[in-house]
Amino acid sequence: MTGLPLYSGREATIDTIHQATAIYTVPEEISALLDRLDWPAVGGRLLDPGAGNGGVLIAALDRLRLAHDDVATAVFSVKGYEFHAGAVAAARRRVADHLLGRCWSGIAAGAAASQIVEERDFLLSPVPVATFSVIAANPPYWRALNLPAEYRADYEAMVAPHAQADLLYAYLQRAADIVAPNGSIGLVTSDRWLLNASSAELRRRLGKRFSVRDLRRLDSASAFYRPKTRTRGTPARVHPVSLVLDPAGVGAALTAAPFPLDGLPEAEGVLLGDLAEIRLAPWLGPEGIFVVRDPAALPGAVLVPVVEPDDIDPRGDCLTGSSRWAIVTRADVEPGPSVLAHLDGQLHRMPPRGRRATRWVPPETFIGRLPLDVDAVMVPRIAKRLRAIPLPAGTMPINHNLVVVSGHPVAAMVAWLNHPAVQAQADALSLRLENGYASFTATLLRQLRIPAELIACEAYGQAAGDPGIEKTARRRGPAGFAKGAAE
Ligand SMILES: C[S@@+](CC[C@H](N)C(=O)[O-])C[C@H]1O[C@@H](n2cnc3c(N)ncnc32)[C@H](O)[C@@H]1O
Repeated sequence: MTGLPLYSGREATIDTIHQATAIYTVPEEISALLDRLDWPAVGGRLLDPGAGNGGVLIAALDRLRLAHDDVATAVFSVKGYEFHAGAVAAARRRVADHLLGRCWSGIAAGAAASQIVEERDFLLSPVPVATFSVIAANPPYWRALNLPAEYRADYEAMVAPHAQADLLYAYLQRAADIVAPNGSIGLVTSDRWLLNASSAELRRRLGKRFSVRDLRRLDSASAFYRPKTRTRGTPARVHPVSLVLDPAGVGAALTAAPFPLDGLPEAEGVLLGDLAEIRLAPWLGPEGIFVVRDPAALPGAVLVPVVEPDDIDPRGDCLTGSSRWAIVTRADVEPGPSVLAHLDGQLHRMPPRGRRATRWVPPETFIGRLPLDVDAVMVPRIAKRLRAIPLPAGTMPINHNLVVVSGHPVAAMVAWLNHPAVQAQADALSLRLENGYASFTATLLRQLRIPAELIACEAYGQAAGDPGIEKTARRRGPAGFAKGAAE
């Protein structure tokens, strides 16, 4: 139900507005926004108030641990409003497909999808207040002057004068009005509302309750798909930014004055995600089960040396060595008696989330993915700056606090990541933590743009200028540290 009276022609009106505003966000930007909103670790309930075809909803659900057919938790945690019936149907289909992909039954997936995606006009219908602690939105952006007349009459009656000039302003005010106290609003949006004179009063009012955190520019050519049909095939004609509005005090103050955007690093170059393989190191459970310190009791053939963040030299971007080994097992091959005896003696210490049906399989499989047989680069997720640590071939990085970048010679990748323009992007994109630390996730790394001139000089010899780092990728057996990388 839309909650609206049935106007004749209302569907056509909504279709007109939808055609003008349905510019969907690519999954990478949605994921980056959810990272910065710290969803779902932050807890509470998430709303996308203009859900389109459900991209935000699916990404938000994907991060939730949901029990099989747990409709109630899914529906409680994630909600989308969308007023265009066709988009509602598409979003419901995609949400249901996502849940079916998680082996839900058809009935449960369908029931969850139809409750998660609600056909509702976010601006003109009643919506619950203080229910959602996280709002994640790419709000519609269209000047009110363009609205079809019969919609505009209702709009002007409902929306406060200072928020009327653009659908975006109305959306921002409505989101601020309904978000839970201490809640956050994550936005992928045009930067104009931060600068325009027509939105000064909106900024002043929002600034009383919110400050701006993690503002960064997006590339309109890659941040969206299905741009406005009148410019089909060309980037959307907006100057997009992504930002989080947090309860006032955390980030930069928002006032009636134009918000300073000048310090933002321009993102130019090739996405690291398009250039290199970027993988999260697996979690293998507590030490002593699949990761051992004393390899003597186990056959050498089933062991690979591992590294964790505490094996990184705090004084330099290199490893200090490795003092632990991971046990390599395959789901389809029962390990030998000594490995089975070891695991059977230790598996009672594995927390439930790490237990697998085949008892000799680790919580997250790495066979075929890691360790790499070529040197790579490892990035610690929690650090004071983006750090590039050479990772020798055959060494297994473990723990979600490490991200592995591979596919090019180490010297080139180290040079890319240490370049000032890339460091500036990483700094601007990273989620701030306490004591000067920040979070550099795999998603963030994929979004870094590597300046074209660095890639062009991938006669890698020029790239690093560091004699301690080899200038070509080397293949190597699954043991030992590379000279220069581990020393
Ligand atoms: C820019 S798209 C964003 C879609 C999706 N959230 C994403 O990021 O990919 C905005 C969506 O808001 C919907 N919309 C516009 N005005 C609306 C309103 N008043 N109430 C509910 N949905 C609305 C449009 O139909 C469109 O699908």
